Amino acid sequence: MKQRRAKILAVESYLPKKILTNDDMAVMVDTSDDWIVSRVGIKQRHIAAEGEFTSTMGVRAAQKILDKTGIDPASIDMVIVTTLSPDYLFPSTACLIQSELGLTNAAAFDLQAACSGLVYGLATAKAFIESGQASNILLIASEKLSAFVDYTDRNTCILFGDGASAVLVTEGSGIFTIGEFVLGADGTCRDLLCLPGGGARNPASHETVDQKKHFIKMEGREVFKHAVRRMEEAMEACLKKAGLESGDISYLVPHQANLRIIEALRKRFQISPERVIVTVDLYANTSASSIGIALEHLMHNHPLALHDKVLLAVFGSGFTFGSMVLEVTGEVK
Ligand code: UT7
Repeated sequence: MKQRRAKILAVESYLPKKILTNDDMAVMVDTSDDWIVSRVGIKQRHIAAEGEFTSTMGVRAAQKILDKTGIDPASIDMVIVTTLSPDYLFPSTACLIQSELGLTNAAAFDLQAACSGLVYGLATAKAFIESGQASNILLIASEKLSAFVDYTDRNTCILFGDGASAVLVTEGSGIFTIGEFVLGADGTCRDLLCLPGGGARNPASHETVDQKKHFIKMEGREVFKHAVRRMEEAMEACLKKAGLESGDISYLVPHQANLRIIEALRKRFQISPERVIVTVDLYANTSASSIGIALEHLMHNHPLALHDKVLLAVFGSGFTFGSMVLEVTGEVK
């Protein structure tokens, strides 16, 4: 029997209209365009409007996929949403999106792996497809991080943006075939990047609000070091598993948190700048969505030839990390 292979049929994204530039940030906190560009590489970030949520942005990205591919919504058998900023603790954002899009034949669940979510999600979709348990999976990464950012904390507020990306994973033909991957985690570092309030450990109270426990907390310098090391290790392990050298990689699509992190990876693997996808300047860190947004950017702005290999690399809170090889097996439309 022919082996089932999971393919990516389409990738789309949605960015909210409102843009906050670095100069806008400098009005809110003691920072400057110079500092942000030189330390992080961000120039601007998109911010959800009032009435826009993680689910509604996810719906916008997913709807583009349904429109573009013309796939019968009844044939979607699974919706996976990866996010660290769900509309509610429960029900899942996946259930909200499933009902909004009328995907009545789809199972739906959220997958939380922070900024690594899209690669964790692709690995999960691959497992369902290749084991024959699903045929058409809509994987959506959406983040309304602005709901959890303290806009008085210059250490964090300049870093994050809102946005969504969506990927259709199928067993038929596709632009990319999902190849080898590695996933990893290190829960001992959980306090270095977290949102302490609002869960069962610190339910909302006057105290948690006074202590600003409902905002993103990050030890930036520590997270930076772990991010570089963990992504490096994951990329190395993934290349080895796939039997590839870094010279075999046509494009690197890394998590978009800080241009200096991306540069460190680029130099370590000796990849030329035009083969590394950078979107952090335009959209900042959109957590789980960032890889999908960057992948769509690659598809529309760079030439892709049959059998080109694209290497993804991710890192996020938890810590979680991973890397994955995609092989071009179809034409970008
Ligand atoms: O998506 C999950 C993964 N996340 C990441 O990978 C983020 C990793 N971390 C980073 O990208 C960087 O650590 C940051 C961008 C968060 C910070 O850059 P840094 O070069 O590590 O700066 P730092 O935290 O060591 O701070 C250096 C100085 C400090 O001043 P002092 O103590 O040296 O006087 C900060 O107070 O820069 C100051 N600073 C700022 N200055 C102007 C921190 N934030 C700002 C700011 N504007 N926005």
